[in-house]
Amino acid sequence: MTGNGKIARTFELMNFEEGVGDGSLVLLKQGAEAKVFELNFVGRRSVVKERFSKKYRHPTLDAKLTLKRLNAEARCMTKARRLGVCTPALYAVDPVLHSLTFEYVDGPAVKDVLLEFGSNGIVEEQLDDIAVQIGDAIAKLHDGGLIHGDLTTSNMLIRNVVNQLVLIDFGLSFRSTLPEDKAVDLYVLERALLSMHSSCGNVMDRILAAYRKSSKQWSATFNKLAQVRQRGRKRTMVG
Ligand SMILES: Nc1ncnc2c1ncn2[C@@H]1O[C@H](COP(=O)(O)OP(=O)(O)O)[C@@H](O)[C@H]1O
Ligand SMILES: [Mg+2]
Repeated sequence: MTGNGKIARTFELMNFEEGVGDGSLVLLKQGAEAKVFELNFVGRRSVVKERFSKKYRHPTLDAKLTLKRLNAEARCMTKARRLGVCTPALYAVDPVLHSLTFEYVDGPAVKDVLLEFGSNGIVEEQLDDIAVQIGDAIAKLHDGGLIHGDLTTSNMLIRNVVNQLVLIDFGLSFRSTLPEDKAVDLYVLERALLSMHSSCGNVMDRILAAYRKSSKQWSATFNKLAQVRQRGRKRTMVG
């Protein structure tokens, strides 16, 4: 268990001294900004996300920025939950280890569900159900003045058995009521769906239909979305 950073060492110590865990710490993802582990946190299956420092940044500035992002992520996730969007329960925020501990959500990422579509995987109704849940969730965030900032199909999980959409990864989230910010949020998802899940047909249309039903401010957002798409198109034509 060496080389996994502060969390791993602290966890080993904690385990050794208090016997709170079952001894396993599984690396789920090593990202550019954070490491994500699965672990047993006081008897619960949990996920811990540890933000690490950027070596090229000044140490004091870096610590400040890391802490700021950590707090922002925790706050945005809590805000999303308050707006009625399913997110993992937040168990702990550690400002010294720069870590957040969440409830482990048992179930596949929307990415994997969509990639299975067409093979022996999911059927049309399930796809529709997922699209509606996604549109509905984003509308709730946006009407509440919250932008997710990283709407990809990896940041959406489907809780097993109940088939409930759970949004994760609020690391780039921020507060805004500007139609432009909402449109860009949707555009990121649209691009992700087009590039990764073209075999799923018009999922984005279904998501937008659900968004339109749910969001009171859909009209301003959709007008901006049309502009954002045009800008995107121009950019791809230029190079
Ligand atoms: N609460 C959770 N339950 C289950 N898996 C999770 C949970 N949170 C994160 N993961 C897994 O870890 C990955 C990385 O977490 P994420 O918060 O998206 O970090 P990053 O910012 O590095 O993308 C996710 O794509 C997902 O596979
Ligand atoms: Mg992510």
